[in-house]
Amino acid sequence: MSISYHKEARIFHLQTPNSSYIMHIVKPGYLLHLYWGRKICTHDLRYLLDFKERPFSPMSGRVEGSLDLLPQEYPSYGSSDFRSPAFQLQLENGSTIIDATYRSHRTVPGKPALEGLPATYVENQDEADTLEITLQDDLAGVQIILTYTVFSILDVITRSVRFLNAGMQSLKLLRCLSMSVDFVDWECDVLHLPGSWARERGVEHQALRQGSFSIESRRGTSSHQHNPFFALLGKSATEDYGEVYGFSLVYSGNFLAQVEVDQYKMKRVTMGINPFDFCWLLKPSEVFQCPEVVMVYSNQGMGQMSITFHRLYRSRLCRGRYRDHERPILINTWEAVYFNVNDKIVKELAQEGRDLGLELIVIDDGWFGQRNNDTSSLGDWYVNENKFPGGLSSLAREVEKKGLKFGIWIEPEMVSPDSDLYKAHPDWCLHVSDRYSSLGRHQLVLDFSREDVCHEISRRISAILSDTSISYVKWDMNRHLTEVGSALLPPERQRETAHRHMLGLYRVLEEITSAFPDVLFESCSGGGGRFDPGMLYYMPQTWTSDNTDAIDRVKIQYGTSIVYPLCAMGSHVSPVPNHLIGRATSLKARGEVAMSGVFGYELDLRVLSAEEKQAIREQVKFYKKIRHLISYGDFYRLLSPFEGNEAAWMFVSSGRKEAFVSFFRILAQANMPAARLRLKGLDESRKYQIDDTDQVCGGDELMYVGLKVPEPGRDFQSAVWRLRSPEP
Ligand code: DGJ
Repeated sequence: MSISYHKEARIFHLQTPNSSYIMHIVKPGYLLHLYWGRKICTHDLRYLLDFKERPFSPMSGRVEGSLDLLPQEYPSYGSSDFRSPAFQLQLENGSTIIDATYRSHRTVPGKPALEGLPATYVENQDEADTLEITLQDDLAGVQIILTYTVFSILDVITRSVRFLNAGMQSLKLLRCLSMSVDFVDWECDVLHLPGSWARERGVEHQALRQGSFSIESRRGTSSHQHNPFFALLGKSATEDYGEVYGFSLVYSGNFLAQVEVDQYKMKRVTMGINPFDFCWLLKPSEVFQCPEVVMVYSNQGMGQMSITFHRLYRSRLCRGRYRDHERPILINTWEAVYFNVNDKIVKELAQEGRDLGLELIVIDDGWFGQRNNDTSSLGDWYVNENKFPGGLSSLAREVEKKGLKFGIWIEPEMVSPDSDLYKAHPDWCLHVSDRYSSLGRHQLVLDFSREDVCHEISRRISAILSDTSISYVKWDMNRHLTEVGSALLPPERQRETAHRHMLGLYRVLEEITSAFPDVLFESCSGGGGRFDPGMLYYMPQTWTSDNTDAIDRVKIQYGTSIVYPLCAMGSHVSPVPNHLIGRATSLKARGEVAMSGVFGYELDLRVLSAEEKQAIREQVKFYKKIRHLISYGDFYRLLSPFEGNEAAWMFVSSGRKEAFVSFFRILAQANMPAARLRLKGLDESRKYQIDDTDQVCGGDELMYVGLKVPEPGRDFQSAVWRLRSPEP
């Protein structure tokens, strides 16, 4: 059991392979945090607690010191701790003071599921143990159940919280973050992944100062602007060395992630649903479940932290048939023909695709209702017979006869004001009565906090998936939430709408993905606006960005790799000059960037030259040889595009017999010294054959001397290598 309780000292010790997490119950029952870091054998660190009195930090009266000075596990506000609380409740008398203390705890093998929310899971009970600690405030009658799951072979602890109103009065949950950790005496920086549409997940590393650092979303989705992730890095930590703590929230809606550095440099990390414009009415006997935070510890830098997230997310967050299957190489119609898609074009593209070795054709936007541009028809999920006179089913059959799978695009959470659905049910969208509803991309957001809306959308989408042989669905979402209100909720519950909407969406996703287990679902929100663990639980891949320019993609994919596995990143070769930014890069560079992900093409195959087609044929053939490394290998970052003119990364198979290395140089430079790329993760005692050549190098040589990279030639250079060890 990786969780022990030392009764006399009232200490919990949670242990992963390389980390220890230690808590202590101090009289009269406050749960204090003692340590989280490199694994230690001892647990009694009570001597570290500072109970002395300091000016302007009142003694709580209940504990032998001030809560303002003590590291806590799940702090409240109002009785002597002035730092950001993890939660806040309002009682019927208007008071928001809560004084919750330890009541009981229990440990269970495995990992219980979270009611209504996505979360990491285990397949066997011995993969993890779970500890539940119940805190209680008698006056409010509330129980706060803190849940910790400790994974046995990964340095992962997950946390979540459940509130149970065990009293007689109604409570208002004003703030209910999923976790809080206080770090004492540790100098660190923060790294996070800010961005915008078409510029998702840049890597930003900054120092922490006294005060608060926070990232958040108030957009109703996790957003392009901030990802629900950050890491704390020791001052000397790098990609390969030093202590790093990663925090990732399994949620797709409004979130807050914050580090507060107090007067004594103690750092309080909190993360969860954004309390901004949130309030949840908890009636007697009702329960509120907070989403899960995945906390990863690494003592080998950022690289090891990412490997841990990747391993966990690809095998114990993603689900379904495709979790353990290589993903088909696709041709998508969007950048090929946009809304001008029709039966003839799809057949022609499928024919071309088959000749090039592609495996799936996806009809993107434009196949339904009267959809010829983005101003209409969302919600009218029936085929446009002018464009597809024979319907989708016969087209799918024909495509399948050619040997390709068939996929479609949908945007189920949305409705166009110009649609039959909206005309029939104008109150089905999120709105506030008598107020103007803002449009985004000419569309409104359906109110998924309503049972009837969820039911009807689920029915419409299920009908398409049942009627037609569909192997793949791209589930898009192209605007953020405004005028967030629901026609069905009473006034005192209006501020629950955003979270209820998210719960409704998760319910619909659960229903549809489990009813069609053989369909590969890819999530999308104007590219990577919802690249978060919540979505990956239902859909094992996400369209990484609408920006398909090879050079920008190097940064976007690199930044995304900080948390998310590469086998979750949809990644396509698109036409040049790039439709978004006008840059022209070679087909080689576009292919070599895109093949470090779920590979595909998004261009008009019919207009390519014979030479280009041959190049694509070769890329597809090559990708099929390395696809298993993208799907299941460990990923190592070698050179950061955020730090220089070059970028590189590699994948290594689990037995370290095979690897795939990619190198990119953004701009050509004159008269540069010959460069070598030092690889990582190989077996130093093995020999590796480089590509299909006679060149054989030792793993030690490749890691400590390096692989020779091409001399600067022209702008936007790329190179890839496939390494194989001939030894058994
Ligand atoms: C936004 C997506 O990111 C694109 O790939 C494409 O599917 C369009 N929506 C279609 O409207």
